[in-house]
Amino acid sequence: MSSSLAQPLPWLLLLLALAVFTAETASAAELEVEPLGGKAPQREFDYFALALQWPGTYCQRTRHCCSNNACCRGSNAPTIFTIHGLWPDYNDGTWPACCTKSRFDPKEISTLTDALEKYWPSLSCGSPSTCQGGKGTFWAHEWEKHGTCSSPVFRNEYDYFLATLNIYFKYNVTTVLNEAGYVPSNTEKYPLGGIVSAIENAFHMSPLIICSKGSVEELRLCFYNDFKPRDCAVGQDIKTDMVSKGSCPKYVSLPEHASLGGPGRDGLQSWVSDDAAAF
Ligand SMILES: *[C@@H]1O[C@H](CO)[C@@H](O)[C@H](O)[C@H]1NC(C)=O
Repeated sequence: MSSSLAQPLPWLLLLLALAVFTAETASAAELEVEPLGGKAPQREFDYFALALQWPGTYCQRTRHCCSNNACCRGSNAPTIFTIHGLWPDYNDGTWPACCTKSRFDPKEISTLTDALEKYWPSLSCGSPSTCQGGKGTFWAHEWEKHGTCSSPVFRNEYDYFLATLNIYFKYNVTTVLNEAGYVPSNTEKYPLGGIVSAIENAFHMSPLIICSKGSVEELRLCFYNDFKPRDCAVGQDIKTDMVSKGSCPKYVSLPEHASLGGPGRDGLQSWVSDDAAAF
């Protein structure tokens, strides 16, 4: 009896092995990076920048409201640094973009939506460009433009968004600045060097800080491809010891979220496009 059962077993194993092998080759082929429009494939990136945005500064330029703009959530508007994106970068200061034809699919990240709404919200009503000549949501833009270039570290949209959330949870810039005494304020100004030192001491990396009209607008943390922290300065910037781009003064502010429609805010005359940041 045992021998009659033993006969078909090797065949079964062989069939199983074949099935597994075929499935693996098929998925490997699907994951291959497809360069856009016949261009040469873009080379692998050197490091990641986790770009964080300060809603108190971004939301000052909100001129109209819409449901997908977190600046419009009233007292529920974010009061912490939120995610802008996780960007593959090159050491020469350039970056790859739109690396595959993979289209953003909201269904792939449906289990992450609550966390993304909270920590990776859009701070504008605009529809940023996607890679195939269209417009899309903030998440579609970030995935198609930057996320598709994160291969081979991330193989799909879900992994990219999940890993970005995880790295963001691990390096809480808001806590570090609050603990160093840099709390949101519409009147205080803080030394840029103090903010940089607080981050350096906590995370052992030099961030890059971007300002708009003297306010911190964006703070970037940088990581090697294995997510060990590294300094953000690259290329020419290293020589000049640059830690800020876009004219951060020596003393910067970290504004609280100004509620919309408040009187006397400056900048009304110099309307800034929602998509002014070219990233
Ligand atoms: C980071 O810290 C702030 C302030 O301490 C807290 O409100 C926020 O929930 C933290 N963010 C994450 C993602 O853990």
